[in-house]
Amino acid sequence: MRIVSTSRLRSGMTLARSVWSSSRGVRQALLTAGTPLTEGYRRGLERAGVWAVYVDDGFSSGVEPPEVITPETRERAMQAVGSVYHRAAQCGGHTRVGADEVAALDRMVAQVMHEIAQSGRLVWCLDDLGAFDRYTLRHSVNVLVLGLMVGREALTTLGWSDWRGDVRYDNVEERLRRMGLGLLLHDVGKILIPEPILKKPGRLSADEMDIVRQHPQAGVDMVDGDALGALSRVVIAGHHERIDGSGYPAGRSGDAVHVHAQIAGMADVYDAVSSTRVYQARRPTQEAWELVLSMSGSGFGQPLVEAFKRSVAPYPEGVAVLVSDGRRALVVRNDREHTSRPLIRVTHDREGRALADPEELALFDHPSITILDTLADLEGDAGWAGDRDEQRGFADDLAGELRTHEGIERAETAA
Ligand SMILES: [Fe+2]
Repeated sequence: MRIVSTSRLRSGMTLARSVWSSSRGVRQALLTAGTPLTEGYRRGLERAGVWAVYVDDGFSSGVEPPEVITPETRERAMQAVGSVYHRAAQCGGHTRVGADEVAALDRMVAQVMHEIAQSGRLVWCLDDLGAFDRYTLRHSVNVLVLGLMVGREALTTLGWSDWRGDVRYDNVEERLRRMGLGLLLHDVGKILIPEPILKKPGRLSADEMDIVRQHPQAGVDMVDGDALGALSRVVIAGHHERIDGSGYPAGRSGDAVHVHAQIAGMADVYDAVSSTRVYQARRPTQEAWELVLSMSGSGFGQPLVEAFKRSVAPYPEGVAVLVSDGRRALVVRNDREHTSRPLIRVTHDREGRALADPEELALFDHPSITILDTLADLEGDAGWAGDRDEQRGFADDLAGELRTHEGIERAETAA
């Protein structure tokens, strides 16, 4: 199967994975796998905000992008976070997130950890091509999965420092589980931010930004201190801190930004930038990936960014790409050791003609060939979202801004 932009879907293509949406908290398939696609379905998907889907065709046989957690577990995790948000919002944030709710979330973290370990896929791209709804809940679960992937790599290779400063490699599972609880709840303080500020298009005023900056501490204050240990609280409190001191709310720097908080920060930036939000188009995953890498040494510690680089691949399996010799290809399988140089299947020549005999290339063995860009489809106009100029203009506007911390904050607060 392969990923095709919704704008590029044509009659005759077959949906390879079901597309999910939710109505009043009930999850339902907008379209089920195996459905032959029509122009009517294409328009319906577009209206639901589905930017791309998986289709089956001859070019993509044998390509099976991994699902690190099952759709059912993703949904249950979203519902568990959603019920906490819902109850807290009803009480205007005066309530505390109680021990029973924390215990329910903890069980979800354990289930997600189990599925990640079972999948055996250490390299992972966000491949949740569901309808654009419930952003905050989807974001919470994406940050959980990403953070656990990066966290496992970081804690097993770099170890962790105990109170004496000794580096240790034991107890990793327990520490990951504590971190996971913080990852699921990292933005719970946002329910206290008035919606007009959260959804405001354009730049926030200084006063509005001050309110946004309170959400990490507000989140910590809301959760029952006895139910949530320190290794979870540091995630909520510190996910917007940056090691150069430019973050918030405390402006901590260097080692004062806990490793768990830095891992959460990387997962948060990556998912916020690569997801569609209320008024902001998504950015391609490789741009989000490169943005995190560009923050090495300033936003996050360099060894942690290296762990991110080894755990998250920039190109989703099944996506069409333009390679440097002008040909088009599909990403077939990511390589854990060389995440930016996957195995690709070259399907079209530089004139856009389908090759009778597609060629598979492990890019690591071909250093002269690089991936230039991801494409909306293998054939025809390659632009995403059917309007390349508009997308390109948007990308240019944001490209500089996203590299600044203010830009990242702005991107993150658009939930
Ligand atoms: Fe946040």
